[in-house]
Amino acid sequence: MRAGAVAISNLVRDRESGESEFAAAVVHGLSQKPKSLPSRFFYDARGSVLFEMITRLPEYYLTRTETAILDAHATEMVDGLPSHGVLVEFGSGSSLKTEILLAAAPAGMAYVPIDVSEAALADAGHRLVRRFPELDVRPIVGDFSRPIRFPADLVRRPKLGFFPGSTIGNLSPANAVELLSGFARSLGADSRLIVGVDLKKDVQQLVAAYNDRFGVTAAFNLNLLARINRELGGSIDLATFRHEALYNSSEGRIEMHLVSWVAQDIRVAGRHFRLEAGDSIHTENSYKYAIEQFRDGARAAGWHATRVWTDKEQQFSVHELVAMPKAPD
Ligand code: TRP
Repeated sequence: MRAGAVAISNLVRDRESGESEFAAAVVHGLSQKPKSLPSRFFYDARGSVLFEMITRLPEYYLTRTETAILDAHATEMVDGLPSHGVLVEFGSGSSLKTEILLAAAPAGMAYVPIDVSEAALADAGHRLVRRFPELDVRPIVGDFSRPIRFPADLVRRPKLGFFPGSTIGNLSPANAVELLSGFARSLGADSRLIVGVDLKKDVQQLVAAYNDRFGVTAAFNLNLLARINRELGGSIDLATFRHEALYNSSEGRIEMHLVSWVAQDIRVAGRHFRLEAGDSIHTENSYKYAIEQFRDGARAAGWHATRVWTDKEQQFSVHELVAMPKAPD
């Protein structure tokens, strides 16, 4: 078989999560007060490309800082992992950071990337098997917040979970604990988890990371409305909305909004929704943590918080969590 064909033939679809789920979520969110839209729908094909551009922006310190931490400590992060180990990545996207861990890990491992974008999984899978010919790539298309059903031959093998990018910060702290508990259940007793978490810092620097000078983040946010128009027969005039990013210090989070310039009705999936001038649709949160605050949450989710790595300026943190042994029942 041609090297590179492997990743696609192994691809597993978690379930057909199609248009109707998107429509229901949009109608629900636009009916709320204040209005909101779930951020997981940012990542259609165009959204995924825009997000890759964000990760290269000068203002977006997160990706390069996390990458530098991974470069410096990858050997420690994978140490003890056997060659029959399984690397599991939640929301793998382009799998660029994964290469750093794989380069330090024993050959012959399996890699299970989980992502909603089949195109991203295909691209990344092809690239990875070219660079690591012995890697067994076993992608799962689906939502990483659902329980993972591993292929039978992987179930009993030791797992290293990988959840970079401060994606954990896009959930409320309570939902983050829930998600980390779910990862513990999915990964099993003999597992570890490496999680990237953005740290609290100067507000101006935080806001700039979500409101860059080139308008890429604005385009990424507005693409959610474009996707609604494309996929749900929406009639939204994108020029009547502007991107806004602010830091909510009492909640400890960056918020992204789409703010209507004008009073208007928007039509989506056959329904009408009213906005006054200045009304916003809340599209994303990105919580920022102190190191101990995150470790407390991880413990509440049933993990041992062991090592943590940061950059010199303490801008970003990468945490190692170790599964607690299962209580006898
Ligand atoms: N987890 C990243 C973050 O919070 C990714 C992200 C989500 C993002 N929404 C975003 C990045 C909007 C830039 C703009 O930073």
